[in-house]
Amino acid sequence: MNEICDDDRDVNPSPPLIRARGLDKLYPDGRVHALKGVDLTVPRGQRLAIVGPSGGGKSTLLNLLGALDSPTRGTIELDGQPLDATNLDAIRARRIGFVFQSFHLLPTLTALENVQIPLFETLNDRRRRVAKARDLLEQVGLADRANALPGQLSSGERQRVALARALVNDPCLILADEPTGNLDSANAELVLSILESLVRERRATLVVVTHDLEIAARFERIVTLRDGRLVADQTRGQSDSPFPCPLSHPGLVRDGSDDCILSSPSNPTRDPSRSPAWATPRPPRQPA
Ligand SMILES: Nc1ncnc2c1ncn2[C@@H]1O[C@H](COP(=O)(O)OP(=O)(O)OP(=O)(O)O)[C@@H](O)[C@H]1O
Ligand SMILES: [Mg+2]
Repeated sequence: MNEICDDDRDVNPSPPLIRARGLDKLYPDGRVHALKGVDLTVPRGQRLAIVGPSGGGKSTLLNLLGALDSPTRGTIELDGQPLDATNLDAIRARRIGFVFQSFHLLPTLTALENVQIPLFETLNDRRRRVAKARDLLEQVGLADRANALPGQLSSGERQRVALARALVNDPCLILADEPTGNLDSANAELVLSILESLVRERRATLVVVTHDLEIAARFERIVTLRDGRLVADQTRGQSDSPFPCPLSHPGLVRDGSDDCILSSPSNPTRDPSRSPAWATPRPPRQPA
């Protein structure tokens, strides 16, 4: 287990896992102001969804939190350690696992080799690398596909390889950008449940970007980005919520228990008129 996951510190209370302050992102041509003064604090172990309209800045924010890019202004601390140009690579390699919508597996490497990629930074012993990658493939249910190339795998299997790769270094922070966006609903459910259980076992922190309010409703906190600004931030069960449903995004309602559910025509207790315009249903997904 990576020490950054461990919250059992006797001395000095540990800082939040992520503390982002005043994040601005202007892309190089200077015309796109993708993030405007975003503040975000994420406690260790939290599972958080980022939602909002297309172009609102979700991927931009995730890339900054994942040390894949730097903000134009503002600061990010990971476990109290500021991210800066000198340490992005090391922090990304050891502490952060990234899952992308389109998997980003290397096509000429087998599943087993793809999963080992992050270990090249952290583990010299080849046999231990292979053993660790095999273990992760087993955890995502793909032990028998270790020698397959990505092109020989279904979309769901490719995303499970990508999950194994993201988790192989035991990162404390797992960031996933539309991880089920290219999957049919059965595979989306499988990938999400594997991701959730691996994250829970490791006591890791999970930030998922999604357009899908049904997916967002599984998380304890939902943050909404619109036009580069954080416009809503709601946590399940927060007692001071002024709304009947603590996750009171338009489109989320209480189902009679403590759970918030998505309003949708397929559920008679749900009210589709409350869905935000950006949360329009996607076209049906094609099975892999
Ligand atoms: N590399 C880039 N160069 C210039 N502009 C960019 C770049 N990447 C993103 N943008 C712009 O920044 C804004 C935010 O983009 P971003 O990808 O973060 O949105 P998003 O919320 O993830 O959208 P989507 O839901 O469609 O994935 C958009 O206007 C986009 O066109
Ligand atoms: Mg995006």
